[in-house]
Order: sequence, then structure tokens, then C-alpha cells
Amino acid sequence: MPDDFASQSHIRLGSNSGKPQTRLDGIAKITGSATYAADNAPQDMIWAVHAGAPAARGKVVALDTAAALAHPGVIDVMTPENRPELAQDPDARAEFFAMKIDVLQNDAARYAGAPVALVLAETLEAALEGARLLAPQVEAEPARIGFGSSEPYEPPFVGFGSPAKTVTGDMEAGFAAAAQNVEVEIETPPQYHNAMEPHAIVAQWDGDRLILDTPNQAIVMSCPMFAAYFGIPPENVHIRSPYLGGGFGSKAVINAPQILACLAARQTGRPVKLVLGRSQMFGPVGHRGATKQTLKLGIDGEGRLTALSHHAVAATSAFDDFLEPAANASLNTYACPAISATHAGSRWDIGTPGAMRAPGEASGSAALECAMDEAAHAAGLDPLEFRLRNYAETDPASGRAFSSKELRECYRLGAERFGWAGRPLEPGQMRDARGRLIGWGMGTSLFQAPMFRAEARATLRADGTAVVETAAADMGQGAWTALAQIAADGLGLDLAQVEFRSGDSKLPDAGIAGGSGHTATAGSALFSAGQDVVAKLAALALADPDSPLHGAGNQAVTARDGRLFLAADESRSASYADILASAGQEALTGNGEGVRNPKDAEERAMFSHGAVFAEVAVDPDLFQIRVTRLVGAFAAGQIINPKLAESQLLGGMVWGLGFALHEEGIHDPRTGRPVNGDLAGYHVPVNADFVQIEALTVPEADPYVNALGVKGVGEIGITGSVGAIANAVWHATGRRARRFPIHVEDLL
Ligand code: MOS
Repeated sequence: MPDDFASQSHIRLGSNSGKPQTRLDGIAKITGSATYAADNAPQDMIWAVHAGAPAARGKVVALDTAAALAHPGVIDVMTPENRPELAQDPDARAEFFAMKIDVLQNDAARYAGAPVALVLAETLEAALEGARLLAPQVEAEPARIGFGSSEPYEPPFVGFGSPAKTVTGDMEAGFAAAAQNVEVEIETPPQYHNAMEPHAIVAQWDGDRLILDTPNQAIVMSCPMFAAYFGIPPENVHIRSPYLGGGFGSKAVINAPQILACLAARQTGRPVKLVLGRSQMFGPVGHRGATKQTLKLGIDGEGRLTALSHHAVAATSAFDDFLEPAANASLNTYACPAISATHAGSRWDIGTPGAMRAPGEASGSAALECAMDEAAHAAGLDPLEFRLRNYAETDPASGRAFSSKELRECYRLGAERFGWAGRPLEPGQMRDARGRLIGWGMGTSLFQAPMFRAEARATLRADGTAVVETAAADMGQGAWTALAQIAADGLGLDLAQVEFRSGDSKLPDAGIAGGSGHTATAGSALFSAGQDVVAKLAALALADPDSPLHGAGNQAVTARDGRLFLAADESRSASYADILASAGQEALTGNGEGVRNPKDAEERAMFSHGAVFAEVAVDPDLFQIRVTRLVGAFAAGQIINPKLAESQLLGGMVWGLGFALHEEGIHDPRTGRPVNGDLAGYHVPVNADFVQIEALTVPEADPYVNALGVKGVGEIGITGSVGAIANAVWHATGRRARRFPIHVEDLL
């Protein structure tokens, strides 16, 4: 860790950052030369397909292994009876973020689709047919699916270790001071990530070394987690994950099918490929857990919040504890003297939920923004004016200053772009030329700006080009490109002179591509690795009697375009290649770390902010909803690549529309089976669902969040968008939906 963080503040990024650079991996992806995990086919490889439990709760009483084994091409069937031992109990959580997994440890079915056996075969077709022939039967008990199917319980924490209960201020006094209260209850359903690339793994053993081709959002961190299951040292696990076809949180943790494939490879001594089918994504690889949220807002005569209570019951599995930290969204958004954010858990017979894009904030802010809209109407105020009256100048929960907060400018810019002024207060006032009901709604966007820990290495080569290395994960968000831009700036080189290596666990740990913290964290490490190279280069040049920079003492040197310049006299400069050659060096390596200044982390609240405005057109007879306009304005610190950042923000807003109107994992209440476990039944937005969508960014300088001033843009787009659309639907129709997605029948 650098001793003096202050000296890093206000770093001026070079000319590569800020450019709308097209994805460096774009051509490889669209021409098909990018190799995804499932594209690997090592010699002698066999296929594995798991059979899933046909019911959500009970005991597996029949498996026709004989039928499966008799099928041509089937090599073996792994069941709880013959499954090799694991070095770690899959029902223990070794790390707080590691989930319990179903890897044939017993004959219990804990959710529909949980692996109950694994078929190994010479071909995919034989493995699929073998799995079908197993025809598992479960002696089923009634599934617990839905709120009310089990008693709520008080959890020790929510999400990945966030507090389950936070109360600030005097709630009783707050509600007593209110002129009126607004109470809202909102339900959100299970949602499934549905990345374009299904989960996949190719596992091979070389003695006690495990080589894995598998998409992963936390490549180095995952090695010890795999290693623990097999009793091998973490360095014996090699994960290769150069490309991901979407992750959204579901590829950040280890899952059961991955471990089963590793077991099968060890047992057979052959490489094993296991690729989940689309329907198999609805269970063993996480989802966004359902929530039932109750909000109560006290408001005074001026439209100011006097108390805000947000209680979320979050669904989890029967055997593990990931709970959507939904209520915590209310802790940091609006000024209020008394805030209570509490959670309860509800055990369902469903796969364990996990992190899904904007975990907590997505569901929580959806409910909060709907409640704020109702409160604004109750107060007789325009929804934007109401939010401005409750603008949080400091973090409501902690009282700390924000590291930066350009939300006011987001409101202004977004409202102006949308044309919010003149919006009628009452619903049902606007129609379009086709007679459709028109409504306008808005929501505030908020997402934390965390930093994790990352390392990076930069090596300058004799020809003045460089290679930079860190085990980052490009899951489609553009990390490869944005991080390479930062790395080039750290080195004072042009992007084209920098080779970016990532996606491999042998490289320095880039931390997790999650929590919207990857660019900030891995980017900081890359930048400082480049700066380390530049510092070493400067030392060489200043000490070299033949260098134009010789004898400059400790005068400042600047690095750009592959040259070092004396800051005070730019006529004195030397190229990197010449400095290396003159010093007789083949290469020069620098190391960097990405970590937040602990003092700033303690003293400041760090969030990205935004405002989303939505217009909907609703058929007055059939109540079909069309989002005709969605405008978001976001402040997320320094934007490294405006093109990719816009794409991330738009992607988040698209998820917001999906959350508001489409996405819903429907489970049969009797068996617990997902009844829409495919992309025909599980609806996600497509291009045709959008008429006009726009994401703007607001400049924001943040000297505290990290040396680069970078926050994150990956998740914030969902937040705000969900509420904005729901509120627009109310403004069009006068009807408040109490559950997501909003169904036509909820408006009738
Ligand atoms: Mo994300 S849900 O932090 O990958």
C-alpha cells in the first residue's frame, strides 16, 4: 500500500482515458474467434450432464441407473452412492460469500432441478439421453414456495455480510411529527440471471493439479475455493476465463455443476465438459430472491420526510442464507431524521439466491421509489420537487459526507432532456394521438462505489511497448478495453502499444468483477503498475550520463507517448526504448496495487447517483404497457470510456424495464418446479420493447473514491428505472401496481 495516498489524489489520467474506444475484443467476439469455456475440447474429453430433481422437496427414491448405463456411449453414472469423497463439506460455508452446494451428498431433493445424478458419456447426445433415462423420482412433500409458506426468521446478516437491521434516529418521534403517513407494500418475484452464455466448465486433472476452463468473475479468489473441495493447494488450481458471455453475479461464486465436473474428471482420469442447458440455469446457479417489502413514510406539512421505515422479507433456500439486502437501499438515498431498515428471511424450497446485478438496490430502490411517488402525491408535490426537498446532503444513515454527489445535476439534466416540466400532478391527464393513456414517472438511482483489492504487473519491453497483466474478468461489460486504457495512461503509452493480458488465474489478482467496483479496483492497480514502471525508468534516465535527462536531480518528469520529458523543460526528453537500451535493460517491470485509502473509506460515503425519467403509453382498454421513453442521467465519477459506460448504463436501464414489466421466475406452487424455465417463458426485454432510451452522464470529480476518481456504472442503471416505469404507469392510469412485474390484470 502506498504510504502517501494524498500524493495520488487528482491524478490526471492520460489521453487514452475518456475516449469512446470500441471494444478491443469486439472483433474476436463477433467473428467467433473468441474462445468461451464450452468451446474447449481437450483430447480424450467426455461429457457430463446432470439429472435434476423433479420436485422441490423430498427424498429421491428412484433412479434408473441401469437404463442409463445400458445406453450406448454412457460411461458411468455418479450418484450419492458412488460419489467420491470431497475434502470439504458442501454444506459448510468456508467463506461468507461461498454458497452451500448440491453435489450428491445425500438423497435429498432441496429444490427442483437440484442435481441428483451425473451421467458421463462419450458424446453430449449420449449424456443427455442417459440423464433422461435416469427418470429420477422423488417422494415429494408439499413445496414451500411463496411468502406465507414458511415462518419468517430473523437473519444475522443480509447480502454478503450487510447488517440485517439498522435504525438511525428516533422512529417514534419521527412518525409522531408527521402530518401524514404513506404505507406501501411491494412484492418482487424470483428473477434469473439468464446470461447469454450458460454456465459451463471443462475440467481436467494433471496429477493433483486441476485445470479449469470456466467463466468466472473472480478468477484468483476462486482458486482456493475449488482447492478446498479437493484438498489441494490453491496454486494447484488454474482457472482460464478469457471471455464470459455475461455474468451478472451468477459467475462470481462456485456452483455445484462445476464441482461435479471436477469430481467426474478425477474419477475417470479424462477431461470432462459440462454445459448447462437453459432450463438448468433455473436452480443451481443462483437467482435474485423474491422480496415482500413494506414501507412507511412519515411526511410533514412541507413535504419533508420525518420517518422512513423499510422492512423487507426476502426469500432464500431451505438450506442456505443469501438474503436480498433490499431495505438497505433506504439508508442512503433520502434525508430523513429517522430511518429503519430491517430484514426477515423466508425459507422456500428453491435454489439458493445470490448476487444478481444490483443485489439489494434493484429490489429495494424499486419499492422505495414507488413509495416516494405515493408520498409525493399525498403531499401534493411534483415527484421531482418532492425528491429535491428530501435531498440528502450527507449520507442519511451514517451522517458522513459523500465523497462526491452530483445528483442534483442528474435531476436537472435528466428532467430537462426528458421535458419533465409541466407534468400534471394528477394521473390520467395525458393522451397521445392514438388515444393511449400517457404517464410520466421518475426514480432516483443509487449504487455503492466499492473498491476491493487488486494487483497488477506492467512490463515495458525493449521496443518501448508494454504488456500489462491482471486477472480481470471481461463479462461483456468492456473491462478488457477500459482497463487497457487506464493501463496505457499509467505507462504514458498509446493504447495500441499496450498488450493487455487477463482472464487467467496465473496472473496477478484483479479482485472480483462485481459490485460495480472492477474498473476502480483493477484500474487503480494497473495505473499504479504503470506509474511504477515510469518511476523506475525515470531513475534510470536521471542516473544515465548519456541521457538528455541526466542531472535533472529530483525535478519532475512527465511521461507520455512513450517518452519521458523534463517537466520544466520539455525540450529535454528521451524515448522509453532509448532509456532501456542505454541502461542495457531488456525490460522493466512494475507492480501496482488497487486499494482504497482507508481514511477516505472511513470518513466518506461513496455512491454513484442518477435520475431516471420514464414515459409510458397504456392502452385504455387492454392496459398493455409500452415504455415510449426512458431517459437516465448518471454521475459516476470519472468516465474512462464514454461509449462503454453508456452501454453499461443502458444495459442497466434495460434490466430496469425487464424488472418492471417482464422478468418473473414462476414456480409451480405444488412441485416448486420452474414452469417458465426457458427464454420463451421467462421474458427479458428485447429491442422491440424500446422506443427511445437514453443514458447521459454528468461530470463528477471525486478526489476520495480512489486516485483515478472512478466509481462504477455496471449496476446503477437498474435502480431508479424500475420505479420510474411503475410510477409512469400510475401516472397514466391512476392505478398502483403492488407487485413486479406489473401485470395487465393488476391494472384492470
Ligand atoms: Mo455483480 S451482482 O456484483 O456481479
